[in-house]
Parts: sequence; structure tokens; C-alpha cells
Amino acid sequence: MQYSRSDFPEEFLFGVATSSYQIEGHKFGGAGETHWDTFARTPGNVVRNEDGAVACDHYHRYAEDLDLVQAAGFDAYRFSTSWARVMPEGRGHVNQEGLDYYDRLTDAMLERGLKPCATLYHWELPSALADLGGWTNRDIASWFGDFTEVVMSRLGDRMHSVAPINEPWCVSWLSHFLGQHAPGKRDIRATARAMHHVLLAHGTAIQTMRGLGMSNLGCVFNCEWATPVDESKAAREAADLYDAYYNRFFLGGVFNKEYPENLMRGLGPHMPKGWQDDFDVIGEKLDWCGINYYTRSVIAPEQGAWPNLTTVEGPLAKTQMDWEIYPQGLTDFILRTWKEYSREVPIYITENGMANADSVVGGEVIDSERTSYLNQHLAAVKAAIDQGAPVKGYFAWSLLDNYEWSLGYEKRFGLVHVDFETQVRTPKDSYNRLKVALAR
Ligand code: FCB
Repeated sequence: MQYSRSDFPEEFLFGVATSSYQIEGHKFGGAGETHWDTFARTPGNVVRNEDGAVACDHYHRYAEDLDLVQAAGFDAYRFSTSWARVMPEGRGHVNQEGLDYYDRLTDAMLERGLKPCATLYHWELPSALADLGGWTNRDIASWFGDFTEVVMSRLGDRMHSVAPINEPWCVSWLSHFLGQHAPGKRDIRATARAMHHVLLAHGTAIQTMRGLGMSNLGCVFNCEWATPVDESKAAREAADLYDAYYNRFFLGGVFNKEYPENLMRGLGPHMPKGWQDDFDVIGEKLDWCGINYYTRSVIAPEQGAWPNLTTVEGPLAKTQMDWEIYPQGLTDFILRTWKEYSREVPIYITENGMANADSVVGGEVIDSERTSYLNQHLAAVKAAIDQGAPVKGYFAWSLLDNYEWSLGYEKRFGLVHVDFETQVRTPKDSYNRLKVALAR
């Protein structure tokens, strides 16, 4: 690695992130069915129709996996709690086995000197709630508040930090407009409702946790830079609209209690009645702002239906996901978020990393592409800190190769290679290099 711990401020946290459905093995421990289980079983949605039934079997192997987090020298571990594992029907009955599991997981982090950083929802909605309309139903805010109360009444005393929802854009736009994630809808009315309700649920969960006396609460936004395909007015307006529905809707709602005007011109007619009255809940004060950053998109105008834009292939080097490597976007997002949205609130990079076609050769995985990606993005974080931005930590995505949603087990994001036949873990070269960089 080009950087080490000493290149960053004294209290800067280095962590690694995972999520429940992607690693745990959803069939274990009495978890209820989720919309990802049935989305995956529907032809055409997921590569080879793979699901998270077994994944990395982290449910049984968490101790060994947390040993790897500790041995690399990370300070913090970002994990998520599965709603359907804790409440199989989404409401009412609590599966004690599920709650006990997160309790053990938390203690295992603390025993290893790792700060537990929880995300309450990272995408596996209980099917029983999907049947009721899921994120399109306004009642989801109170269902989510109840789930938050159940989980945090048990774990809240030991959390370092908590975010209610991972990546509101993915929960709403990607899943209800593009249809690429569960529940696989392509409907603008459903999208507008999901976008608003996901923020209402976020704010409700924050209020619930404040009521439990908790602190260090935040939100995790995924940000993708929008570059106009050319300098034309039409291209700049298209990129600005993409930026509005991808990034500014969510940051603006939470930090400024408003939605972007250019977006509301198209989305407004589909919004749920009375949305303007919800900003006091949505805009509950936060203690930190999380940014997940991977790439940018190049945007061109397009005829046809709103939003009248499309993404076109860009010229930069790409990862296994076909995502362009564009570290400048991370610096730019940090600076803009700091100045226009989060202001004095600390910023954490809560996910950053790349997929690479890694394989084990002679007991080793040489992933120099990943080391280079991490170097470039740490440089981007440092550049923002040097300009005064209050960035307080960086979490790599991800600890393990895992279930990459609609792309199944094919795309490998881990610092640690997983053989999905044998469940053997092999730390990659990037893991070993990070370990050297993080040594105290
Ligand atoms: C993020 C998700 C995470 C993983 C990475 C690659 O959007 O939070 O679960 O899929 O992308």
C-alpha cells in the first residue's frame, strides 16, 4: 500500500464492511423468507438463480471471520442485522435465536477490540411485508421503527454507531424503477413512494433509537458521480437530473429537509399525498454521514419517457462489474456533501472497493488491481481531508467474497477469497498489504 495509518489523522477509523444476507446463510437459525429469496427464484433476475441460503456460512463461521478482521488491524466492523432473521414475519413474533445470534456476534467483536457499527436494514425485506406493498406502503415506517426497537433494545448498549438503512437509492430507485433488485418493480408511482417512505422509515428509526437513549446515529448514502456525455445544455441537464434522483434527493431530504426541484418536476405527480409534511421526521438530526462510493456514470439525453436520459459507456479503466474507476468522484462527493449537506457532522466512507476476477493460485490470490484501487481511493479521501473536510473513517467493501445480489457469487469484492464449495477462506494479497499499512 502507498498509505499507512500514520498518513491519516490520529483518531481516524479503519474498518471493513459486510451485510447479513450476503454472507450469513439465510436458511440457518429460523429466519423468515425475504423478497430476495423469491426474486432470486424467478427466472432472469439473478445470475444462475443464486440466492443467499448458504452464502459464506458466516452464521456458523463468524468467529473465524472476525479473527480475520482483527488480524488485519481494523478498528471497526460494519455489519447488518436481518429483519427476517429477527422477526420472520416482519412484525409481531420475535425469533429469539436470531436475536441471540446478533448478541453473540456483537460480543465477539468487542472481545476482539472491534467497534460494532450496525446497519439495521441492508435489503432483505421479510416477504410478509412485501405482500403488504413493502416500501410502497407508508406503514413501513412504523413497522421498521418496531423492528429497530426490538433489535436495539437488545444490542443498543454495545453499538459504536448505527445507521438505519443501507443506500436508500438502491432500496427505492434500483429496486422499483430499474427493477434490478428485489422486488424487481418497474413503476414510477411505486418508485416515488419507496423513495419517500425509505427516508420516513430512516427518520422513524432514528427517533426510536434516540428514545432508547442511543447516540452516534447516522445514514449511509450511496453516491455515484454523474458526468455529462458532452458539454451540451441537454447533456448537462440530463446529468443534473441523474445526480438529483441518485444523490441529492436523499442527502437533501435528510440534511436540508427538501427534495431537488428539477426532480420534483417529473416525480412530483407520483409522490404520496402530504409528503411535504414529513420532513421533521426525515430530517432528524444525525451524528454522522456515511458515503458509499464506487464509480461514476456518463449520462446522455434520450427521447421518450421521463427522465429522458441514459447511461453510456465511459472511457476509463473498469472493474469486474464494468464500473469505471474514478477516484476523483470520491473527493468531489466528500467536499460537496460537507459543504452543502452534512456540514459540521463527521463523514465516514462506509463502503469502497472493487470486484475482481480473483482466483487462488498456489495458495495465493494476487489482486494487485484491488491494492491499486484502494490506494487511489485513499488518496482521494486524503485530498478531501487536506481541504478541510471532516472525514473520520474509511471502511473497505468487503471482508469476504460474497453474494453480490443479482450478480450472484460471480463478482468477487472480498479482501479474503471464499471458495463457495468448501467455504475455505484465503486472505488475498490486498488483505496482507492492508495489514502492513494498518499496523500500529
Ligand atoms: C453496494 C452495496 C453492497 C455491495 C456493494 C458492491 O451498493 O451496499 O451490498 O453490493 O455495493
